Amino acid sequence: MWIDTHVHLLSTKKSRPDWEEIDFTFQVAKKKGIDIVCLTEHRDSQGFDELYSEIFGEKKLGGQTLEGGVIVLSSGLMISSGAEISLRGGGDMGVHASVKAVMDMRSPSMTYTATELLDELERKNNSYVAVAHHLLGDGKWWCDFDNVIRKVDAIEVSGKHPHWVERYKGLAQKYNKACVSGSDAHTWIQLGVGKTLVPERFLEGESGESFIHGFKSVVRKAATVPCIHESADEVLRLSGYYRSRHL
Ligand SMILES: [Fe+2]
Repeated sequence: MWIDTHVHLLSTKKSRPDWEEIDFTFQVAKKKGIDIVCLTEHRDSQGFDELYSEIFGEKKLGGQTLEGGVIVLSSGLMISSGAEISLRGGGDMGVHASVKAVMDMRSPSMTYTATELLDELERKNNSYVAVAHHLLGDGKWWCDFDNVIRKVDAIEVSGKHPHWVERYKGLAQKYNKACVSGSDAHTWIQLGVGKTLVPERFLEGESGESFIHGFKSVVRKAATVPCIHESADEVLRLSGYYRSRHL
């Protein structure tokens, strides 16, 4: 199964949901052979609460809603809940967790260090998969990285950095972590530019909670294979052009 572990549906932090664009994005995901799209919208986006309430609360996309924050669309595409958190001191963390868990997080940017965020998730007994996002980008290293990395599940091989695959893998090896890859897409064009292969039928059951547990389990076993699109540079350029001109 293919998972894109890092997807945005809002084109900027000031955007409101564009449902025509969102619908098309999920159609494209299916056509690209992606089985699961992990929503990791910026928690500090102005449209975050509206987007997640409409998708997971009002079930605007239809499909079957599973417990904990997973929707299976009529096309068979699965959508899981999560968020990307801008950390105090620099960098971003991807957190895959229930809708309630991500909506309970405080929304302003730089509220949490990585340590504080994971402490809060554990204090509230929330299941989660924590991913260190695009660590090698400018200003993206975490101030408390060495202290908190033991609690982090995976290091992202960023689809935005197609020439740094080996550097990311080396980092993951150094800290004995799994690698996952996501696109960091803000457009349907960029979707799947980075994606992760996981074993078939990794889900333990049919509830959303099991999705998080199943995902954590394959990540902890390092049974994930990151993959970057062979024409990533071109796709990224096209996506940037589309985003600047059309959204
Ligand atoms: Fe992102």
